[in-house]
Amino acid sequence: MTSMRSLMCGEVGDAHVGEELSVCGWVARRREHGEHLAFLDLRDHTGIVQCVVDGAADLRSEWVVRVTGTVRRRPEGTVNDQLATGTVELGDCTVEVLNTAEPPPFPLDDRAGEVDEVVRLRHRYVDLRREEMQRNLRTRARVLGSIRRSMDDQGFVEVETPLLIASTPEGARDFVVPSRHRPGSFYALPQSPQLFKQLCMVGGVDRYYQVARCLRDEDLRADRQFEFTQLDAEMSFADQEDVLAVISTAVDAAVRSVRGEGIGEVPRTSWREAMDRYGSDKPDVRFGMELTELTDLFSATEFKAFRASSIKGIRHEGAAGDTSRSRLDELTETAVRWGAKGLVWMRVESADGGGVQLVSPVAKFMSETELAGVAERLDARVGDVLYLVADEWATTTHVLGLLRLELGRPPTDEGGLRFLWVVDFPLFESVDAATGRPVPAHHPFTMPHPDDLAALEGPASGLLGVRSQAYDLVLNGWELGSGSVRIHRRELQQQVLDLLGIGVEEATERFGFLLDAFRYGAPPHAGFAFGVDRLVALLLGEDNIREVIAFPKTQSGTDPLTGAPTEIDPTQLSELGLRSLPPQG
Ligand code: AMO
Ligand code: AMP
Repeated sequence: MTSMRSLMCGEVGDAHVGEELSVCGWVARRREHGEHLAFLDLRDHTGIVQCVVDGAADLRSEWVVRVTGTVRRRPEGTVNDQLATGTVELGDCTVEVLNTAEPPPFPLDDRAGEVDEVVRLRHRYVDLRREEMQRNLRTRARVLGSIRRSMDDQGFVEVETPLLIASTPEGARDFVVPSRHRPGSFYALPQSPQLFKQLCMVGGVDRYYQVARCLRDEDLRADRQFEFTQLDAEMSFADQEDVLAVISTAVDAAVRSVRGEGIGEVPRTSWREAMDRYGSDKPDVRFGMELTELTDLFSATEFKAFRASSIKGIRHEGAAGDTSRSRLDELTETAVRWGAKGLVWMRVESADGGGVQLVSPVAKFMSETELAGVAERLDARVGDVLYLVADEWATTTHVLGLLRLELGRPPTDEGGLRFLWVVDFPLFESVDAATGRPVPAHHPFTMPHPDDLAALEGPASGLLGVRSQAYDLVLNGWELGSGSVRIHRRELQQQVLDLLGIGVEEATERFGFLLDAFRYGAPPHAGFAFGVDRLVALLLGEDNIREVIAFPKTQSGTDPLTGAPTEIDPTQLSELGLRSLPPQG
């Protein structure tokens, strides 16, 4: 303990009865008891202990005090089962006020969850005193510790890579830092340590890892912050299997440290299968409602909307009673917003002669055989609602994938932890309509599948079919991490950059240092990075990663505590060779 305290508040128990001891903390609550006595709940990060003090003391919420008293059993009938220390209290207390405090800006008990988040963040130092935030921060530290130990044990060496760098593309915008020594020039903050970890491989580090802060200027969401933390890793003379094994071991250690049990054998699925069955490259496999293939049933259909190359459906089990007509209209509108041309819904009712009947405004456009086929494929039972989309495969899967989540996804803290490896990603995710250039599915340093190298030289139409050696780790429908086998030969790297529309000149300017390094003996290498914030949030059943970050930004990217981002003074600006323009309206 310390010179000021002999025990933590939450540790006081039956074993200490009769002992005189000192505890320190914040006044959580004070209740008067008769004229002279008051009960004081004293809080530190380990919990709360009840102290019986002389009512004359003037003590208020969140004052910082040291209480010295004697531990005694609580009288019969006053034991508090809700409290770990509920069988005892400190009696005959003397209270030393270490600091007074203004009334807290919001209550720190169970009601804090309903407080406006901006208010919580403006006074984060008060918010952090709450039991839930203490639990979250401490869990995060435990996870980081176990990941580090696991990587160390697996022979990885932690290397710190720089924050002030040239750009590392990961698909977001860079945050930039102006240079005072070279006005008009800027450093970029790393979107990830990607290029430096590859340089470490050329440098013979062999097995690199880093608990790395990454910065990306992108739209914020529940699972995204400007600044976040990755467990970043790279290994030489290694392939996909090696990386998956290492990362599984590290994640297993992290999960074990929090949940007491590991992750077991993580199932695998190909990207194509994930899209086909779940309409997502990060499927939430805590629930079923898989997409069912129906295209062939409608090969000769009279229903115009269903003359499409891909038709799939999902079954919302037993939902008919709870799904009103207006809800169905709303879902149809939503599906259209997601890119569908429409949404066919069908209620499953019992047929006169036994069996089921599909009731839908469009049923009349479908043949008996088509309807029977749909019912059979989707295993339709009375009381279900079926949803069908017809379009190109990419749209059908995308829209039904989102609808599946909308209708079936369990809350974050239910359904356990369902990890999944998604492998065999395509090299390119789309072709940019404006430029006609393919867009990388992962990043430009990902190795194409060896069997598909020839297609890189073929017509643009074949590019979307090129597979890569990239893989993702998915947890409960969140992308936890991504990695790939990397290109380690200069010519192939330049060829891929060319395809992306980054010609020799631009490539030399932006990535010349990497291409140069590849001249000097780059070993085959592969790696991975996963989001620590996301892992910790899911381990704790939190919906938003802000809950597991000590000082996060709001959804709009500001910090209500420090006021960042702020203007800087004109002298500083001019030293940097910068001038603010009036905002463009
Ligand atoms: P990627 O861009 O997929 O890959 O990032 C890896 C993981 O980092 C987490 N992450 C984020 N977490 C919170 N807020 C964000 N804005 C954010 N962006 C990403 C996610 C994601 O899965 N260099 C590659 C990895 C590699 O190839 O080795 C990379 O950064 O959990
Ligand atoms: P329409 O013939 O466009 O009036 O559509 C009739 C019904 O079919 C409406 O309920 C639409 O939402 C639905 N629909 C139209 N096109 C599609 C499609 N491509 N996939 C699924 N449903 C569709």
